[in-house]
Amino acid sequence: MDNVIAIDGPGGAGKSTIARRLAEELGYIHLDTGAMYRAVTYAALQEGIDLNNKEALVKLTKSIEINFNKDGEIFLNSKNVSKEIRSSQVNKNVSKTAAVKGVREILVKKHQELAAKNKVVMDGRDITTVVLKEAEHKFYLTASIEERARRRFEEMKEKNKEANYEEIKENIARRDKLDSQREHSPLKIADDAVVIDSTELSIEEVVSKIKAIIEGA
Ligand code: C5P
Repeated sequence: MDNVIAIDGPGGAGKSTIARRLAEELGYIHLDTGAMYRAVTYAALQEGIDLNNKEALVKLTKSIEINFNKDGEIFLNSKNVSKEIRSSQVNKNVSKTAAVKGVREILVKKHQELAAKNKVVMDGRDITTVVLKEAEHKFYLTASIEERARRRFEEMKEKNKEANYEEIKENIARRDKLDSQREHSPLKIADDAVVIDSTELSIEEVVSKIKAIIEGA
């Protein structure tokens, strides 16, 4: 599968930032699949759906429309929810929604349709192992939990949001565990993925490293 770049990794490893930069530099589109799981979770919370009710979550996923604009902003039934999907409520609950097989099936189909029609850099948890299993370029991006928490903390402070480092770290660790231990499409390193640890690397360094690998340098 040419023209697709698949990136997986745990939360806060910089996947989306790196994927967006790469897409810009290569003239590809970027799809942040995590944002879609977040949008479903946000919609469920808004509608008061019990997140243990798998059937209701699947029904909801079928009924909503999720779109992105050129700037990567996300729209739920035409409403811009880019900020709302990053709330602590969504952070806490998204891994629950994402563990539901029926929800995953619907979103995975959308991801695959998009990749069939476009040159795309896609990031998430199951892109290298399920969604784009045949991708020629696969990366697993990670960093130490302390560094990932530190980056999230700085990001929130920059946006003048209240932030507590220990809470952020706990939330990331909890999601890591749920995402890698779930039954359906758990987060794992694909056999043929290149692992990049960005703990000591800048965004630019990671982007250059990935580009060099893709370009065969
Ligand atoms: O990437 P981000 O942290 O925004 O993803 C939010 C959550 O969505 C993850 O913790 C995971 O539970 C879920 N997810 C997933 N599969 C993907 C992308 C995200 O299960 N491809």
